Amino acid sequence: MKNNVLILDFGSQYTKLIARRVRELKVYSEIMPFNVTIEKIKNFQPGAIILSGGPSSIYGKKSPKIKPEILGLSIPILGICYGLQLIAYLFKMKVAPAKNREYGFANLEIVKPSRLLKNVNNNSRVWMSHGDKISQYPEDFIVTGKTKNTEITVIESNKRNIFGVQFHPEVIHTKEGKKIIYNFLFEISNLKPDWNMDNFIKSSITKIKKKVGTQKIMLGLSGGVDSTVLALLLRKSIGDQLIPVFIDTGLLRKNEYKDLMDKFKNQLNLNVHGVDASKIFLKNLKKIRSPERKRKIIGKTFIDTFRSVEEKIGGINFFAQGTLYPDVIESNSVSGPSMKIKSHHNVGGLPKNIKWEIIEPFRELFKDEVREIGKDLGLSEIFINRHPFPGPGLAVRIIGEIREDKVNKLQSADEILIEELNNFKIYNKVWQAFVVLLPVKSVGVMGDIRTYENVAVIRIVESIDGMTADWYPAPYGFLKKVANRIVNEVKGINRVTYDLTSKPPGTIEWE
Ligand code: XMP
Repeated sequence: MKNNVLILDFGSQYTKLIARRVRELKVYSEIMPFNVTIEKIKNFQPGAIILSGGPSSIYGKKSPKIKPEILGLSIPILGICYGLQLIAYLFKMKVAPAKNREYGFANLEIVKPSRLLKNVNNNSRVWMSHGDKISQYPEDFIVTGKTKNTEITVIESNKRNIFGVQFHPEVIHTKEGKKIIYNFLFEISNLKPDWNMDNFIKSSITKIKKKVGTQKIMLGLSGGVDSTVLALLLRKSIGDQLIPVFIDTGLLRKNEYKDLMDKFKNQLNLNVHGVDASKIFLKNLKKIRSPERKRKIIGKTFIDTFRSVEEKIGGINFFAQGTLYPDVIESNSVSGPSMKIKSHHNVGGLPKNIKWEIIEPFRELFKDEVREIGKDLGLSEIFINRHPFPGPGLAVRIIGEIREDKVNKLQSADEILIEELNNFKIYNKVWQAFVVLLPVKSVGVMGDIRTYENVAVIRIVESIDGMTADWYPAPYGFLKKVANRIVNEVKGINRVTYDLTSKPPGTIEWE
């Protein structure tokens, strides 16, 4: 058996979070679909298996199942939510629809000494989200935890080393979830914490080299940390076969194209192809107001531009993107819990008929993990600490129709905000900060003259991974300074407001 964890996926939106928690505890893990063959499982030689949650009901006609054989492999198993119900089902316990569907917070009462719940406080807060519950269980299992609505919330069979929890220990809403996963990995499965981002880099390089051989990869640089780190990783893997491309969409921050081209070439020694496509982007977006259409058009214009680069260079087989896990979740329109929120240009916005094979080595990572890789690859703090910037750029921060004069206004306001974030030493404390330009005009007075100009919104959020976010309680002095400067220095904006919406219910970007 190896020092690793196999996660079998039953379709929960949280499956990759399980992988992340295991990685945080420094154990290598891989996710495989629930119906993977026994041979594959045996080849992987897992030191422990986790069965994920999922949207199905165990008695649904097409509900995903595993072969009971898996339970007899003498590998410690932890079932989470649907995973627990599956264990119950396979051991012929009784699972029935709950009277009250339990969704949200609950308190976990520990009713018996438990290896899985070692050091977990009684009445600790947990996050539940399922409609079915177990009503009977066989003799060699014990119940160690319950909640107000669910008598059988945690089951354990020490003889078989099989455990199950009805709640989700992998989500941060479960206060001591990490402790539970820790207990499963180290106390129960006797694994060792030996995995880190260095190992990720090494294994990615091997995979990339094997896949790409002597062929070329084109990479779209956005200036953000993800694609920049990816450029370094790919260069380390395949050297000059990497073709990095940076496109001026006309929707970047002020002077960003020039600044970044300079940094890519002179600081990072990247042989980057710069393309000024600003006119085409603005032309394609003319009179477009719908957020989804904007995103789709931008995705297509990006691809057209990359194609034009290929025509000059020729022979490109792969296209790399710095897509992260949250982008994948939010762009997927699968049925069940993870609904499509918006088409991130690098996931949902790509046309179907592109001939390059897409490579996304960071698809299962979160931004803080990518930042760690960046540090390991020697990327400077200036790049690592840059705030995320969406692929569609200022297009999703200009509400309504996009025009060059609006872009200029927004760029000037945004420049002031960033300057003051640095002056007040706030930039590195927050996840993201930007200005949104509204298509709304309001009346004002400057000197003795009436004005009738646009409203701008300042948005600053704190977040760990972009999946959820809180608005930042910015100091008054800072807000006052920024608002004053924007109204005084940016022609065409006469009113500034502050966005007090967290995510959820808002998203970070306005569109
Ligand atoms: P939302 O607005 O979905 O944003 O709460 C979450 C994070 O993702 C960034 N974002 C994008 N990043 N391409 C990207 O690379 C996109 O199309 C895109 N849309 C949003 C956003 O800035 C925030 O950090």
